[in-house]
Amino acid sequence: MKKKLIAGNWKMNGSLAGNETLVKGLLAGLGSPACHVALCVPSIYLAQMQALLNGSAIDVGAQDVSPHEVGAYTGEISGAMLNEFGTRYVLVGHSERRQYHFETDALVASKAQRALACGITPIVCVGETLAEREAGKTEEVVKRQLAAVIHTNGHCISEIVVAYEPVWAIGTGKTASVEQAQQVHAVLRAQLKAATPQADRIHILYGGSMNAANAAQLLAQPDIDGGLVGGASLKAADFLSIIASAL
Ligand code: PGA
Repeated sequence: MKKKLIAGNWKMNGSLAGNETLVKGLLAGLGSPACHVALCVPSIYLAQMQALLNGSAIDVGAQDVSPHEVGAYTGEISGAMLNEFGTRYVLVGHSERRQYHFETDALVASKAQRALACGITPIVCVGETLAEREAGKTEEVVKRQLAAVIHTNGHCISEIVVAYEPVWAIGTGKTASVEQAQQVHAVLRAQLKAATPQADRIHILYGGSMNAANAAQLLAQPDIDGGLVGGASLKAADFLSIIASAL
């Protein structure tokens, strides 16, 4: 069985001093984790993370990447730049970027493509809003979001990580039930299977109010291969406890 992946998403949180305290706390309690661990941090802290995490069991991740290679794109950060700081993963299509930065499925797909071209694993986030769930559109929405990435990336799709994050569960304390989460993960797995014979090696993470209390149950589901953890990744004890439950 493949090792699970627990990725923290710090979002727009952190400070030089606070990051150091948090990472040192994590490293002190980590031991040899049974799963892969990553921290997706604001890009301005990548150099600090590279220094703090060098040689450790925690990989460095970013939260966004430009779909462009280089040039006149003020404010953007390229995959090649992320590479210079040892970035192993990058989030693409997080619901906060889809919502506040109007990222379309096509843009998310091209960001994933750019990341792959730079040898960085894109963590492609998909998920429905509450209105979409209540309208019975959950499957349709997540399949449409993933289809765009599959369409653009062809056989490279086996190199991505998918994160299912129901928008209504993000930062709200409302976790999807294990049944709700597993059901959508199974839909995504089937879609990946139709696209690549290597679908079983693709990690499909659950995200949305995952915490120390609910992680073990979620991670025990057959198609939940890890977690994308926001709020609970900002506290060393909570994040360590989630990591410990990813067996
Ligand atoms: P949350 O965020 O764990 O705070 O709900 C998850 C995410 O948005 O990645």
